[in-house]
Amino acid sequence: MITFDKEKQIFHLQTPNTSYMIGIYGGYLLEHLYWGKRVDSTSGMFGTESRTASFGANDAELSEQGISASTDAIPQEYSFYGSCDLRKPAFHAIYADGSRITKMKYDSYVIKAGKPKLCGLPATYVENDSEADTLEISVKDELTGLKLIYRYTAFNNYDAITRNVEVINDGDAAVSVDTVMSCNVDFTGADFDMINLSGSWARERHIERRALGTGTTKIESRRGSSSHHQSPFFALAEKTANEKHGDVYGFSFVYSGNFEAGVEVDTYGRTRAFMGINSCDFAWLLEPGETFTAPEVVMVYSAGGFGEMSKTFNRLYQKRLARGKYRDAERPVLINNWEATYFNFDEDKIVDIAKTAKKAGIEMLVLDDGWFGKRDSDNCSLGDWYADTKKLPNGIPGLVKKVNDIGMKFGLWFEPEMISPDSDLYRAHPDWCLHVKGRKRSESRNQLILDFSRSDVQEYITKSLKDVLNSAPIEYVKWDMNRNMTCIGSALLPPERQAETAHRYMLGLYSVLENIMGSFPDVLFEGCSGGGGRFDAGMMYYFNQYWTSDDTDAIERMYIQHGTSLVMPAAFMGSHVSAVPNHQVGRVSPLKTRGYVAMCGQLGYELDVTKMSDEELSEINEQIEVYKSVRGVIHNGDMYRLVSPFESSHTAWEYVAEDKKTAVMFYFTIMTAPSVINKYVKLEGLEADKLYKLRETGEVYSGDVLMNRGISMPYGKDCEGCMLVFDLI
Ligand code: GLA
Repeated sequence: MITFDKEKQIFHLQTPNTSYMIGIYGGYLLEHLYWGKRVDSTSGMFGTESRTASFGANDAELSEQGISASTDAIPQEYSFYGSCDLRKPAFHAIYADGSRITKMKYDSYVIKAGKPKLCGLPATYVENDSEADTLEISVKDELTGLKLIYRYTAFNNYDAITRNVEVINDGDAAVSVDTVMSCNVDFTGADFDMINLSGSWARERHIERRALGTGTTKIESRRGSSSHHQSPFFALAEKTANEKHGDVYGFSFVYSGNFEAGVEVDTYGRTRAFMGINSCDFAWLLEPGETFTAPEVVMVYSAGGFGEMSKTFNRLYQKRLARGKYRDAERPVLINNWEATYFNFDEDKIVDIAKTAKKAGIEMLVLDDGWFGKRDSDNCSLGDWYADTKKLPNGIPGLVKKVNDIGMKFGLWFEPEMISPDSDLYRAHPDWCLHVKGRKRSESRNQLILDFSRSDVQEYITKSLKDVLNSAPIEYVKWDMNRNMTCIGSALLPPERQAETAHRYMLGLYSVLENIMGSFPDVLFEGCSGGGGRFDAGMMYYFNQYWTSDDTDAIERMYIQHGTSLVMPAAFMGSHVSAVPNHQVGRVSPLKTRGYVAMCGQLGYELDVTKMSDEELSEINEQIEVYKSVRGVIHNGDMYRLVSPFESSHTAWEYVAEDKKTAVMFYFTIMTAPSVINKYVKLEGLEADKLYKLRETGEVYSGDVLMNRGISMPYGKDCEGCMLVFDLI
């Protein structure tokens, strides 16, 4: 719900449990008044507190009204370079006369039911206008004619507020916009810890927590994608906040390219949070009459610690960011041949894997890298999307038929954004990759990146993929992207627009995804970028699941999946059982543990089943049966992170069905210790006054005992795991 109190000049955005307020100060300045626990009145929000600052310059417009105030002291709703506010500006532009001052004045507002679409960009949505209200506030710079619209949506069923900004050039000269954050939130104190998800290839989204100090603390990606290195998410939490308690403010960027996000703690001990497209190597030339739309930020306030924050992100993203048939439908259990064969396979080998997998209860075979061009290693053929008939004499249609005849569905890997210098495509179009004229082209994994800002490239790739997908009943696509962006430049853009390349690439990619996915609504699309290198909210608008990491080791996966769950629901996390010793870290863990960890996402297999014993195959069969019996709870229920691998030698996760009738708990020992007694794990989210029966033993526990005393678990041996299912009786 969104209201405007005309008398007090306050906009009030409300979600079920949160409030967000913006005031119009002195008739022209938008002051950030409040974000936190829901309040029902605006009285007292515009305080009479001092709005001056030691050493602060007085704002000229306010001085003219006889008000002595410095914008440096006032919490701003959005901020501009060139005012008396000397904190990090959310907006910076260079005008035709060379000046860089932007002075925005409140102009008008509209409140409408529902949530408008963001043109060409991924965003959360509503299915019905009654689900949310949207506020658009227009501000204007009288001198240059530049106009901004601040857009806010408050959801009625989720404690989430979304923000984005639109820049409109209503003037008569071009403007170069080189910083445009999607949000700016000014807090009146700095007593926060910052939490973010960082990592590397095969070690994505580990949780980091640090105290704020004076100055800027920033996470960012300049890698052309949101990256393995930093996720476009951070939270500010009060010092004592934990999974269950405390104020937490979460920010998640619905964008998959370069970003910057973080905070500046200023000289007065206040905190400014920001999130947007990275201003490094970004500039957008806005001609008169043109509009630039900045991507969306989803902001979640939780009074119930990180657990509550994640619940909101998880639910909102699963139901109002993800789209299409597989948003709600159960997905097949798949086997992927990558770690089984790498590039070394032929049709017979794939058919053998499919036959054995079918016996083990697996439902779909996914053919990974190496099926096209003459790709026997990673040094060629990206861009040549036609089958290698040496490996697959009957092409993709012939192989799909054989796999379908076994009773298995078929899925296929592509890396559509890439081009190998050794490919027919590159020989025909050497200027189709990102590059800068006169500079050598730097390869990574022997490949270059196609310039997706170009419409001819977009059209060619769209057609190539559609041709393959139309050639056979392919029911799943794995869309990979395996390198960081360098040599960022486009052959088609004029010099003054070269700094638009990286963002135009993202817009091009989003449009190709929209086009292809729109044409194949029944195909399940999984995203991948060397594992979880682009596992962000932007991608979740297109892909119904994401390959969480190339690291398939059960223990490392606990850290990765634990961190990922801060924002993403289990149903989005592609998670596979692989062989031991593990190919990434060499660890040996029991098949049972590997199965349980993988069940906490979308279960799949990635190993050579033809080399497994009958006992192992029947264990897989059993795993799949068990998974199917609990996946509804794991994918649609609420997740509770009971024990963190980052803080303990154990991990415990619990998933509770929405109706609280079933709870599934997983408990893992990372490393055991000598002389230890059992460990008590407290469950959450149950009916306190009801009884639950443990499915495995028939023992009966009351909800409040499980939640307050906990259940006693054996300390366990290294890498051991177990699952407990509680049914309400
Ligand atoms: C990336 C993916 C892997 C696999 C390989 C194939 O690394 O993350 O799962 O598909 O590419 O080259």
